[in-house]
Amino acid sequence: MIKEIEKHLTDLEKIKLKNLDDVESFRIKYISKKGIVPYMFSQLRDVPNKDKREVGLQINSVKQKVNEIISLHKEKFTSKKSNSSFEDLTKPAEFLKLGSRHPISIVKNKIIDIFLKIGFDISEGPEIEDDWHNFTALNLPEHHPARDMQDTFYLNKNPDWLLRTHTSSVQIRHMENNEPPIRTISPGRVYRNEDISARSHCFFHQVEGLYIDEGVSFVDLKQTLLHFTKELFGKSKIRLRPSYFPFTEPSAELDIYWGLESEADYRITKGTGWLEILGCGMVDPNVLKNCKIDSEKFSGFAFGLGIERIAMLLYQIEDIRTLYENDLRFLNQFNNSI
Ligand code: PHE
Repeated sequence: MIKEIEKHLTDLEKIKLKNLDDVESFRIKYISKKGIVPYMFSQLRDVPNKDKREVGLQINSVKQKVNEIISLHKEKFTSKKSNSSFEDLTKPAEFLKLGSRHPISIVKNKIIDIFLKIGFDISEGPEIEDDWHNFTALNLPEHHPARDMQDTFYLNKNPDWLLRTHTSSVQIRHMENNEPPIRTISPGRVYRNEDISARSHCFFHQVEGLYIDEGVSFVDLKQTLLHFTKELFGKSKIRLRPSYFPFTEPSAELDIYWGLESEADYRITKGTGWLEILGCGMVDPNVLKNCKIDSEKFSGFAFGLGIERIAMLLYQIEDIRTLYENDLRFLNQFNNSI
């Protein structure tokens, strides 16, 4: 019996366990009800009385050793810092948890893609603008309401500086520095001094478009916008409602027919089926003149839309503020979008 126990003890010294499954089989082999250790204890009754104590102690040391081995290996294989990956270099790497693009970027990229494919380029400009590029060059008379302190954030240091209220300012910069034909879209962040609510925020994002060439007409504007709405929303019924912008003449607002198929459709279209999507118009000749473009020879159209509004429509987002909170539970929903 003693010899048998000694053999087990030397075996235990050499034991090699590779993973948790090995640990479990080892446990079953030695200390489960029908394992080696309980079996040895049951044999104890046949051991002569004078040796009983010694043999009992030996079996106990086997049991102790087994428990030590089990807890040691369990810790090794379950702990994060396990060096098991060094032992098995063929193991696949752990998955990296990928982040997701922000819905504003997703929608912005979708819009950019549509226009890049039909020959537009991308132009960008500063968020801190001067009065000329944000207002004056765009034919905004000095006392126009859009210049009111309530809508515009002015910089204290220099009242000529402000946070741009639209990316039309980028279009002015682009016209100043380029000759027609011009086909450009200007995506970017804009700022307005508005109360924050479910529907409005003091900054948001826009994409504005501009096309200047010889003989550009309202028909080109309508066709371009029709192409855009088909591509982005898959909707092909649009209407242009007369509107007013200081920098376009005539000006219009584009509505798309969204439909009235669900309760949500009724809610977002206020029961009409129509949704207002963007502002547009033919560039006012004064704006061309301000940028030293010959308004007799060239004409053009412009349009501007808010990305947040489109994202809210496409993803049925009820409150604009969710777009700025960076709550991972919200953002993770866009994992599969590009
Ligand atoms: N700049 C306008 C706005 O911010 C949008 C617009 C752009 C309208 C171009 C007409 C033409 O609301």
